[in-house]
Amino acid sequence: MNEKFEKVVMIGLGYIGLPTAALMASKKFNVLGVDINQSVVDTINDGLIHIVEPDLSGIVKDVVTKKTLRASTQPDFADVFMIAVPTPFKEGFQPDISYVEKATRAVIPFLKDGNLFIIESTSPVGTTKKMTEIIFSERPELKDKIYISYCPERVLPGKVIYELEHNDRVIGGINPESAAITREFYRKIVSSNLYLTNSQTAEMCKLVENSSRDVSIAFANELSMICEQANINVWELIELANKHPRVNILTPGTGVGGHCIAVDPWFIVADYPKEAKLIRSAREINSYKTLWVIERVKNAILTFVATHKRTPKVAFMGLAFKPNIDDLRESPAIQVVEAIQTAKMDATFLVVEPNLYTARETHYLNVDLVDYNEAYAAADIVVFLVGHKEFLDLAQNENQLELDFCGIRK
Ligand SMILES: NC(=O)c1ccc[n+]([C@@H]2O[C@H](COP(=O)([O-])OP(=O)(O)OC[C@H]3O[C@@H](n4cnc5c(N)ncnc54)[C@H](O)[C@@H]3O)[C@@H](O)[C@H]2O)c1
Repeated sequence: MNEKFEKVVMIGLGYIGLPTAALMASKKFNVLGVDINQSVVDTINDGLIHIVEPDLSGIVKDVVTKKTLRASTQPDFADVFMIAVPTPFKEGFQPDISYVEKATRAVIPFLKDGNLFIIESTSPVGTTKKMTEIIFSERPELKDKIYISYCPERVLPGKVIYELEHNDRVIGGINPESAAITREFYRKIVSSNLYLTNSQTAEMCKLVENSSRDVSIAFANELSMICEQANINVWELIELANKHPRVNILTPGTGVGGHCIAVDPWFIVADYPKEAKLIRSAREINSYKTLWVIERVKNAILTFVATHKRTPKVAFMGLAFKPNIDDLRESPAIQVVEAIQTAKMDATFLVVEPNLYTARETHYLNVDLVDYNEAYAAADIVVFLVGHKEFLDLAQNENQLELDFCGIRK
């Protein structure tokens, strides 16, 4: 069925690479998943998963049992090579494409005539061309013999399996032939629309999508800070404003986290610093919102101590970067908890994250997690940092002070 693209190597088996590899394996591709992390490889080869993503564990177990998915630390020869490794930023918010480069260099010895090489990692404009140059400088005989494209991922953590198949995709080829072959490949996996363009436009498209979200969230976050000054309930305000048929204000929060929206706009700012004024401001507003939250929590603790003459128990409700997931990357909630802990205030802390068994497994925070019901019952001050569904049912206790930064009580 998949003769032309029968064997696929997926480099990077994280939140994007593993579900994509598993989905392809479920569609009878012969998939080799490659990760530099040996424990990730071992976990997958045991038919288990190392991330929380609904519906993923069953598929991985099935395809590993059927041997259509196998994991390794080393690539091998294949028909299609896909790259889904991290693209963080380094100091000064400069994009770090070293993971993409290392992954590309790792597959270069295995490339052969007719192969398809696809970058899925979110990348600064020009990355695909840079990787193309690296490939052809190492293997000049492959020039015009392999197909190279950029095809960014748009999935929502928590709905990855559905969205992988059903989201429209943008495919940017280094030439029209590459784009066309790449479409043929994705057609076997994706049932939605596939739009072809060049690699730079596809790279910019991904960055712009996340920057657009960042700007919209910054507007909501700015409103939340203005409303506090104006003594207006921001949740009510937004609900009323959204009754306008052409207005759709998003929900304010603790800030913006995750590996995409909090990171990708900087890739545009880094390359176009003079032009990207709104994009930069949005990033700054969303980062500032987290500092604003920290100040509110500190003030609440100081006021409690001054009023009650005792040490308050403070429950931090949620650590993930958004509701109903376990992903802590760039999470503003983590930033808040860390800042309050290091401020050495007269308070004891109960940290809650219902999507994780232990915070230690995350390596992000040195705390023991507490059950959310227990923490809520014991706390003098409850700080809602993430709008997890579990918190929506907590009956309000009038003896507690609640700081709601994510609209649990809206
Ligand atoms: N997570 C999302 O929701 C999402 C959505 C859209 C796009 N993206 C983009 O997709 C890319 C991957 O993101 P992710 O969330 O899957 O990252 P992740 O951190 O969950 O996974 C990346 C994996 O790559 C592995 N890795 C790193 N370098 C490697 C190398 N040289 N060879 C083999 N494996 C290597 C890591 O060990 C890790 O397991 C990033 O560019 C990200 O911006 C992510």
